[in-house]
Amino acid sequence: MRIDECRRSRILKREAAVRDANRFVTTMKQLYIHTIGCQMNVYDSGQIAALLVPLGYRLTSQLASADLIVVNTCAIRAKAEQKVFSFLGRLAALKRRRKTLRIAVGGCVAQQQGAAILARQPCVDLVFGTQALQRLPRLVAAVEAGARRLTDTETAAATQIDGRFPAVARGGAPSRFVTVMRGCDNYCTYCVVPYVRGREASRPPEHILSEINAMVVDGAREVTLLGQNVNSYGLKEGWCSFAELLARVNAVEGLSRIRFTTSHPKDLSDALIAAFRDLGKVCPHLHLPVQSGADRILKKMNRRYTRDGYLRKIERIRRMVPEIALTTDIIVGFPGEGRADFEKTLDLVRTVQYDALFAFIYSDRPQAPAARFAEKISEEEKKDRLRQVLDLQEGITRRKNEALVGTTQTLLVEGTSKRKDAPGDESGLVQYHGRTPTNRIVHFPAPVDAGLQPVLVPGLLVEVRIEGAYAHSLRGRLLSIQAPLKRAKGGTCHAA
Ligand code: 5AD
Ligand code: SF4
Repeated sequence: MRIDECRRSRILKREAAVRDANRFVTTMKQLYIHTIGCQMNVYDSGQIAALLVPLGYRLTSQLASADLIVVNTCAIRAKAEQKVFSFLGRLAALKRRRKTLRIAVGGCVAQQQGAAILARQPCVDLVFGTQALQRLPRLVAAVEAGARRLTDTETAAATQIDGRFPAVARGGAPSRFVTVMRGCDNYCTYCVVPYVRGREASRPPEHILSEINAMVVDGAREVTLLGQNVNSYGLKEGWCSFAELLARVNAVEGLSRIRFTTSHPKDLSDALIAAFRDLGKVCPHLHLPVQSGADRILKKMNRRYTRDGYLRKIERIRRMVPEIALTTDIIVGFPGEGRADFEKTLDLVRTVQYDALFAFIYSDRPQAPAARFAEKISEEEKKDRLRQVLDLQEGITRRKNEALVGTTQTLLVEGTSKRKDAPGDESGLVQYHGRTPTNRIVHFPAPVDAGLQPVLVPGLLVEVRIEGAYAHSLRGRLLSIQAPLKRAKGGTCHAA
């Protein structure tokens, strides 16, 4: 009898605690973040979410239930900018139905257009620029207190940034971005980044390392260090070189893999190339944007390297790190790009044999000098050149992928893809996906456990035999797991 009462009172207490917790969760304000653009914006969106927690906001994936919507914008090409305004159009309709909804616009378009966004889209309550991130809690508090149509696009004259970014818990996500520097001093003539992100400024290594250590405690196994030009990390401030930073990140216990982007070809040092060879956790993948294969166009782009200089660097990298995967960015249809210039770009792609590439149609950016260059290329011609680059690369990627069939690859498990079979049927398999050190995506089947949950958790390293190649991915068969199964204690265990 006494035991029953005891149990009942325990149950009642637990139910009361759950009610309290639910009340707390439902009284929290809902924050929806819409991110457009690059990995830096993805990282900044994490920062925005963390900065607004003290104001009582928690993230929601439901646009309709949000109290505050933050649109984190990108201005790199006209298309990205158009996306911002079409999304804001949707939000205007939402706000007509829910008057209490607050809308904030941040990122590069916010920096570039400031108050003009308020004029164009009256549903917006707050515009905050790329250097206003740390001031966001104060700005949102002001909006909550009734301020309307607020703009903060102030930029600091100093080139220093406060590197103590707030810690972002991401519930065990294995792969994270870490911004190590902001801004860019290169002024490529097509590019808006120096105008919207400001002068180059690096975070102190101690802040970067303590953030990475916290991420590892939160379940991260791979970090991608981000900067517009990581090769010049710390030079201005006199911290340490980027190669030295990599060595310090390499020593972080519990971390399996390090990636970074982006390197400017003109600043790629031998010390950095050696990091691929000497630091066990640095993945053999280098993204080295070439933009064009014609010296005439590289000069007009203010890239400050030549085609030959670029190719010599590629040769040196491959000599030092033969297994390295190389990727690049290419712009087609830059003003004045003639057929012969474009042929040189195609020829460079054939010569280098990249593992993958991103190709973009040149887009005028009003603040960037190339917007005022003569000899604009027609949209039709640009589209045709884009198609040619993509077709050429698709063949190269496919052949490279096919050459991997029969090899064994180590993958960092990222999660499950769509289920191959319904859980619980006789095969009991789930499709997982992971990445090779060279950044190729591999899909492979593996079992679910007795509770029909995936056996492999994100963040595990597994070995697979590659059995199939597609244009953009590979198919593999699980050979072994290099880290414990979900419920096993440790050691290497081999899958069937
Ligand atoms: N038009 C087209 N592509 C651009 N990029 C940068 N600015 C422009 C522009 N105005 C591309 C470059 C860069 C990548 C991030 O975006 O290739 O490396
Ligand atoms: Fe833009 Fe050139 Fe700076 Fe890259 S290096 S962000 S392309 S200005």
